[in-house]
Amino acid sequence: MKVFSGSSNKPLAEKVAGQLNTSLSPLEIFIFPDGERRVRVIDRVVEQDTVVIQSTSPNSDTAYMELFFIVDALKRSGAKSVTAVIPYLGYQRQDHVFRDGEAVSLEVIIETLESVGMNKLITFDLHSIKIPELFSIPIVHLSALPIFAEKIKEISSFSDGQSSHVLPDTVLVSPDMGGIRRIKILSEMLSDMPYISIVKDRDLETGNIKSNKIDTNLPDFKKEVKRAIIADDMISTGRTIDAAVDLLTEQGIEESVVFATHPVFSNDYKNILQNSKASKVFVTDTINVPDEKMFEKLEILSVAGEIAKELKATSH
Ligand code: R5P
Repeated sequence: MKVFSGSSNKPLAEKVAGQLNTSLSPLEIFIFPDGERRVRVIDRVVEQDTVVIQSTSPNSDTAYMELFFIVDALKRSGAKSVTAVIPYLGYQRQDHVFRDGEAVSLEVIIETLESVGMNKLITFDLHSIKIPELFSIPIVHLSALPIFAEKIKEISSFSDGQSSHVLPDTVLVSPDMGGIRRIKILSEMLSDMPYISIVKDRDLETGNIKSNKIDTNLPDFKKEVKRAIIADDMISTGRTIDAAVDLLTEQGIEESVVFATHPVFSNDYKNILQNSKASKVFVTDTINVPDEKMFEKLEILSVAGEIAKELKATSH
């Protein structure tokens, strides 16, 4: 199996290759003065299984075009199969028509990936569980939740001398109703830790959050609860998280810790998150976060091990 990387998330691709005891196979990616890219496979890939790792953020359009060209180059060079590892699948939020007249961007992306020859997709924490149904090829939908569960145990456990338990004054929080399934799974991984959800109402035209309240149908929010662990699939501007932490603080929560799989990080996210009342923000490396995008409260957990495990399991 030969592993290739696009240019959007080389650090993750290198970690995956390292865990597979191999190194990345070289690709020539030439950028013309006008920004167009030319991709060339250098090694011989005839009749070989190949893997290409490419996140599609930031600069989704460029990252996707580069990925299309890499898959096409591998196929034209005789590769037996091309598995695309797209840890963050850009355009996934536009997976249906929300308002009359809109394009279904995700469908266009899927049709293009399939038509250039991608044979299989490995990805993480999709925004909706319906997305895999849109593909005609096999798709492996991995999750960062097991990594989050381990970290939550590490930061919220106490020992009674015999065994360790997760702190009883803690509640899991989904910052919107769309994330409730995710939070239930996390709760199961943490011995049924109580969970609640916030009901977020966002203006579809401006993206602004119109209102935020705790869903009173979920009974787990009790007065003795002092810590909240918020989990979401992605953080873009940080406004969802900031509004959730403010609401929880108003309700008497003393500490909020945030977990989100994809650090999409756009606009003023850095100031919003660093100045929010959250004590810590954990994300993963499904999207590369270069030094200049880091902030003090941020910690990055790696999904490289999960990708390597999946590739090892399917390469036999
Ligand atoms: C929305 O449904 C998603 O799960 C995230 O909550 C959202 O995309 C985060 O966006 P932002 O950080 O811009 O509020």
